[in-house]
Amino acid sequence: MESHQSFVSWFRNSSPYIHAHRNKTFVISFGGEAVLDDDFANHVHDFALLNSLGIRLVLVHGIRPQIDQRLKNSPPPRFHKHLRITDDQALQCVKEAAGLVRVEIEALLSMGLANSPMAGAKIKVASGNFVTAKPIGVIDGIDYCHTGEVRRIDSAAIHQQLDQNNVVLISPIGYSPSGEIFNLSAEQVATAVSIALKAEKLILLTEQSCCNPDDGAQIQQMTTAEARTFLEQHPDLADTISLPLKAAIQSCQSGIDRVHLINRTHNGALLLELFTRDGIGTLISSTPFEELRPATLNDIGGILELIKPLEQQGKLTKRSREKIEMEIADYIVIERDGLIIGCTALHPDEQRESGVIACMAVHQDYQGSARGNRMLEYTYRRANKLGLKKLFVLSTQTMHWFIERGFLPSDINSLPDPLKTLYNPQRNSKVLCKNIE
Ligand SMILES: CC(C)(COP(=O)(O)OP(=O)(O)OC[C@H]1O[C@@H](n2cnc3c(N)ncnc32)[C@H](O)[C@@H]1OP(=O)(O)O)[C@@H](O)C(=O)NCCC(=O)NCCS
Repeated sequence: MESHQSFVSWFRNSSPYIHAHRNKTFVISFGGEAVLDDDFANHVHDFALLNSLGIRLVLVHGIRPQIDQRLKNSPPPRFHKHLRITDDQALQCVKEAAGLVRVEIEALLSMGLANSPMAGAKIKVASGNFVTAKPIGVIDGIDYCHTGEVRRIDSAAIHQQLDQNNVVLISPIGYSPSGEIFNLSAEQVATAVSIALKAEKLILLTEQSCCNPDDGAQIQQMTTAEARTFLEQHPDLADTISLPLKAAIQSCQSGIDRVHLINRTHNGALLLELFTRDGIGTLISSTPFEELRPATLNDIGGILELIKPLEQQGKLTKRSREKIEMEIADYIVIERDGLIIGCTALHPDEQRESGVIACMAVHQDYQGSARGNRMLEYTYRRANKLGLKKLFVLSTQTMHWFIERGFLPSDINSLPDPLKTLYNPQRNSKVLCKNIE
């Protein structure tokens, strides 16, 4: 019974994410190592699930270990600045490896056995010549031969495939208008594809978690500025983390809002990252992950969702959508990764002498980390700007929270007349007051 309940609450809690991700374009990149792993089928099941939830999915795979395997009896592979020098022999291996990996992924995505998670999935996969490349040429006197870089992505052709609900599969290979083939870095292709498609997310499945080498703790989120500083401060980071981080920074700088680095060796990591509140990976974004800001009309749905349970518990007075809409300029919100997790309103009186703090709420999962305090501080600054001298609050169950922050018990008669209309005698709220000069 308990497991039933936890399933039901898990499924319900994931529903905001299911709505939020539908019809969004996600580019997911993974190395050739992931394909070699016994658990790769699990990733493919997760890709299939994302596709069935209406996410427009582009997969970019790597082939480094598969190329190395083919070259193992040749002289050691040559790299310069983390890129393979692709001579004629290596190019042959690149072609073989890309073909093989692509076919293996297509086969797994085509599976539909009745007793497997892929039953009834019926996924259509599209691959093609979406990437145009040019040679890197000679750098520091070193000729990269058939190693290339992305010149153009045929985003219209990819979108066409996504419009038909196809999963697009892209190999780290590009073609030049003269018909040459170039070996590309999978991270670079994934970055270029996500930018060209204006994808909502770039997800890099990495070989390890992104941890701070100083204390071993996993980094949950970084802004691009923080990620850049982190790379500067840790020049010895393994390629398996530094390359995805660089790709993340570049994508964010070019307009991708959210880049996720997820340790692919963690079973179900992709689902945990996309459908739970705090995820499991490292999120890189150009703007802070959590932001306290004035509310806009677009936030009303999130505010209503946040306050509904508190209204039911009698902690907050009931408010209609229309009322919040009319007063939206009075509201501030805390947005965390697209979800509203905190809100409050400051309603000033017409004389601009005093105001009432109302609808103060922090989502249950995020209480106790000073978010209420931050909103209160912001409210004081707003009140100061408006020239208000006194702040009131009407509370049934949270008096002490305000008293501990300098509010004093007061009564209904001390409320200025226009604000008295906010008092509902049935709720019998306590009136608290604070001078803020
Ligand atoms: C009140 C509320 C906004 C505080 O948000 P928050 O982000 O948890 O606040 P902070 O982290 O800044 O403060 C946490 C402290 O407040 C205390 N606190 C929380 N609710 C309280 C209450 N009803 N009465 C007294 N103290 C309370 C916590 O115990 C904690 O104190 P501690 O660290 O000493 O244990 C949040 O608890 C909430 O949304 N409550 C439900 C809605 C509500 O009652 N709103 C007020 C309507 S007037």
